[in-house]
Amino acid sequence: MSSVVLDNVTKVYPGDYLAVDKLSLRAEDGEFLVLLGPSGCGKSTLLRMIAGLEDITEGELWLDGQLANHVAPRDRDVAMVFQSGALYPHRTVRGNIAFPLEIAKADPQMVRDRVTELSKALHIDETLERRPGTLSGGQRQRVAMGRAIVRQPKLFLMDEPLSNLDAGMRTELRMEISALVRSLGITTIYVTHDQVEALTLADRIAILNRGVLQDVGTPAQIYNDPATAFVAAFLNSQQLNLLSASVHTPQNQFVLLDFGPHRLSIPWSDPRAYAISQHTGGQVLVGMRPDGLAPVPESYDGPAFYGRVRTLEYHGHEWMAYIECGVPAVPVPEPPDPREGRNGHHAASGGIGALMRRMFPQREEEPQEQEQVGQNVGNGVHRRADLTVRLGNRPVWRTGDAAKVGVDMSRLMIFTPDGARIDKPRR
Ligand SMILES: Nc1ncnc2c1ncn2[C@@H]1O[C@H](COP(=O)(O)OP(=O)(O)O)[C@@H](O)[C@H]1O
Ligand SMILES: [Mg+2]
Repeated sequence: MSSVVLDNVTKVYPGDYLAVDKLSLRAEDGEFLVLLGPSGCGKSTLLRMIAGLEDITEGELWLDGQLANHVAPRDRDVAMVFQSGALYPHRTVRGNIAFPLEIAKADPQMVRDRVTELSKALHIDETLERRPGTLSGGQRQRVAMGRAIVRQPKLFLMDEPLSNLDAGMRTELRMEISALVRSLGITTIYVTHDQVEALTLADRIAILNRGVLQDVGTPAQIYNDPATAFVAAFLNSQQLNLLSASVHTPQNQFVLLDFGPHRLSIPWSDPRAYAISQHTGGQVLVGMRPDGLAPVPESYDGPAFYGRVRTLEYHGHEWMAYIECGVPAVPVPEPPDPREGRNGHHAASGGIGALMRRMFPQREEEPQEQEQVGQNVGNGVHRRADLTVRLGNRPVWRTGDAAKVGVDMSRLMIFTPDGARIDKPRR
């Protein structure tokens, strides 16, 4: 068992490509930590630095209280499983799982016992004498996992181990990984771009974007109280509703969020009111998850939006409604890209925007994303927003109906125009 501490870790690949930017993160002894983020955000790079397969450019890695930047991979007592668990094709399943123990010259009887025990836990005990070529994808991944776990490493690193499997197998193996790793108490860092895997497996989730840590917390903390609009949108299986509102405090009576055709008010007694009122006269982004909205009768006099039902969508276990509400859609603000602001560390090809910023360096100081959001909202280039509303398993509306949408005020998330959370302190 082992703890992992990353302290201000940066990775710059040859060609001055900044892949991980001053990242600090800690995995506690025995913890199951999930690194979540879109493709290319630096997850594998981070994992490979922990394993010792990639140099750390700046910063410190501590394994079990020891500075490990320059410890050889084989001395880190770390096991790793990749997306496609590469197995030795000419060895049987038994031979594959036993391999790390045979290398370590373990007692043959002990090896037999361990392999048998582990293969039962992984439900591959029937396949022990077969070669990898005769196995299904799910079975091969189980063997790879068995081989990684067999010598009980201090640290278990998994890089999207389920992403090559079909949906049913993914769910099954997901549950088994969770049970197995927890029963062994091995500290695990698990990389995925799949939010369901992250939510279901993790003790804590760390969300990355463009090499920068965005948020870290338990699945419930990250889902219910995301630190930024990017995190809120990324951790949402349906579209996050994100609308722009101006903030007023009429006669200092209450805080008013003004969406144009719609308004929501927040009384001073609400603990969030003060933080939001600091933006009086300015714009904020209001985030609402589809399950924080619900159909209400015309007579309802609580907080609500109104509009017209554009489409209903059947998802099997639930219906979703898309309500035209006469407010422009706001794109999710992307967090700043450290690669574009860093002298000498531009990506090789950063597109026209990066080229312009390089030619006119004074522009680097401008908040690019904010500018973009402002434009989209101001000139109406983007189409009108639909509010996505979760209906449960019975649609109360039909396409074209006038619709009143009740708002669960406790589930609002208020952000600055560049996506930083206003109504909750940062973790
Ligand atoms: N060996 C390398 N040399 C240069 N750039 C790399 C190398 N490996 C990865 N990258 C780049 O670093 C970024 C992060 O990559 P990676 O860590 O593989 O992301 P993820 O695993 O989150 O998809 C990507 O833009 C990728 O193209
Ligand atoms: Mg990767």
